[in-house]
Amino acid sequence: MGPIINDYAWSRGGGGHSWSGPAQNALNGIARLFAEFITAAAGSARVCGIIGCVSDEPVAEILLDGLKRVEYRGYDSAGMATISGSRIRVKKGAGRITEIEQKHGLSSMKGNVGMAHTRWATHGGVTDRNAHPHTSCRETVAVIHNGIIENYLELKRGLSKKGHRFKSETDTEIIAHLVEREYLRSNDPLKAVTSAVKKLKGQYAVAVMFQDRPDTIIGARKDAPLLLGVADGKMFIASDILAFIEHTDRTVFLDNHEVVELTKDGYRIFGPKGSQVRRAPTQVAWELSDVSKTDFAHYTLKEIYEQPATVVSASMQDPRKLSEFASSVRKADSLFITASGTSYHAGLLLKFRLNKEAGLRCDVIVSGELREHTGFLRKGSVVIVLSQSGETADVLGAVKEAKARGAKILSIVNAAGSTLARESDIVLLLNCGPEVGVAATKSFTAQAVVVNLVADAVLGKKTNGMKELSEAVRDVLQVEPDVKRLAVKYSQRPDFYFVARGYQSPVALEGALKLKELSYIHAEGMAASELKHGTLALIEKGTPVVVVNPSGEAHAESLSSAEELKARGADVIGVSDQEDAVYAHTIKVPRVQPKFMPIIEVIPLQLLAYHAAVAKKNDPDYPRNLAKSVTVK
Ligand code: G6P
Repeated sequence: MGPIINDYAWSRGGGGHSWSGPAQNALNGIARLFAEFITAAAGSARVCGIIGCVSDEPVAEILLDGLKRVEYRGYDSAGMATISGSRIRVKKGAGRITEIEQKHGLSSMKGNVGMAHTRWATHGGVTDRNAHPHTSCRETVAVIHNGIIENYLELKRGLSKKGHRFKSETDTEIIAHLVEREYLRSNDPLKAVTSAVKKLKGQYAVAVMFQDRPDTIIGARKDAPLLLGVADGKMFIASDILAFIEHTDRTVFLDNHEVVELTKDGYRIFGPKGSQVRRAPTQVAWELSDVSKTDFAHYTLKEIYEQPATVVSASMQDPRKLSEFASSVRKADSLFITASGTSYHAGLLLKFRLNKEAGLRCDVIVSGELREHTGFLRKGSVVIVLSQSGETADVLGAVKEAKARGAKILSIVNAAGSTLARESDIVLLLNCGPEVGVAATKSFTAQAVVVNLVADAVLGKKTNGMKELSEAVRDVLQVEPDVKRLAVKYSQRPDFYFVARGYQSPVALEGALKLKELSYIHAEGMAASELKHGTLALIEKGTPVVVVNPSGEAHAESLSSAEELKARGADVIGVSDQEDAVYAHTIKVPRVQPKFMPIIEVIPLQLLAYHAAVAKKNDPDYPRNLAKSVTVK
């Protein structure tokens, strides 16, 4: 396997994020390592974090650190359970992990076996009682869970009739009761969990502890990620590799319908029919610095600044896979692209190039809506799926529909071990490392690179110029002080607009999305041509409007739009390689090959959103109400 680019030697210097050596080494290093990771989020609720540990030493601090590492995915409550003195002890509550730690002293809980959880509420409000872990009637079984149990009301009614009493409003609690009931019958933890989960409909990743088995955790999964970490004298179960990466980089990914038994010395996996599955750990070599903020105030800013490296690592694709991907695209009877959120915007870039340059008809459909368009899907259809996490429920739902109709699934995904990657016929990885900030930044840039590699491969062209692109990305980051001034100036405005034409339109959409997510300012992105069909009515004195307008085909037309906006009082902010008097402010960006301009243009907009959030005292890493990976519909 050789790298697609051979014009750049990425140099690795001491301690920082620069790389050296031939590109192949870089591929074998950063890109491969990044490719192995999974940031898959799960969701007892929406996106929850699970971490469990069986060890020969106290686990409370290990679990607490793990919880902090998965905090980025968003949560409203947290809790922990350990076994000590033949009793399961649970401490939990609504609020931030640090507050819960202060109030309950999670880190001083005793026991060598334990599990912890961050919850994002779906069934049942944000209350102390609804936080996980949940216990059974006799408190002999404790459960943490990600996902949604669709038949929980029916199960709850049945259990209530048999005398079970519930302490919370969650769907999760019924699992604890079901397991307890099965355990009373079989006295076998593995059998108890296996038969309990067979009764569940919906999605789940669960970890279960038994009071009288202080050496064991049982896990099970269906449609929500769950993986194991194998360390000396310690075994982990988690929804996210980041939860245990400090202790081990040896990981075992679990498949749907598998149940696992974990002790401090090892693990046994059982398939849906009960037979044992042998699966050795995969090494996911990883540098801790990649998942820490290093010197940056926030992960989001760190990830924005990683983008000179992102473009290079994203471009390192296996040529055989890329050409297989491209040939499937060319041969498709019908072609669809699907994704959600930011990934959808990258999908629009791909559509543009496939339509305009390759003459291929294709539609981009947000994944949550694909179902409405499946009439066109059949054997011979190809669906290209973009996702950072590979776990977004809407995306996986779309894939399920498409597969059921015989379509081939080609995916572009960051998380190598994700459900999407496993469900796809061909996978191209983004290789951009873990993205912790809830708002996608570097993953968009990586997607913009990969979709261009795909479009070029479809066109039979070689992709060159990654070195120049990486340098241009480094240059455009210099605009930060100017962008920060603009962000502060406009941070109290109620509305913002972003407009562009053609291939730049997705950048306008992405700029607006970033601003909404991080600053909570109402923002709209649209094709500049649409302004006159409605939005101009909203422009008043001082309304900030970003016009993304590189030199080229559409430049003059977009300048006219800028004039129209200015005439109605707007403060026009031009993002362009060319200055113009019409702009109240120009964010000057370097010129690169037209196909890469969106990467150069989006970065100032990421910085604008970030600084507007900071100016408004919002937490840019964890925007309110949002989740990194929305694993339920
Ligand atoms: C969530 C995130 C967005 C992301 C979208 C799709 O809404 O907050 O930042 O763009 O999901 O995620 P994916 O992992 O499928 O790219």
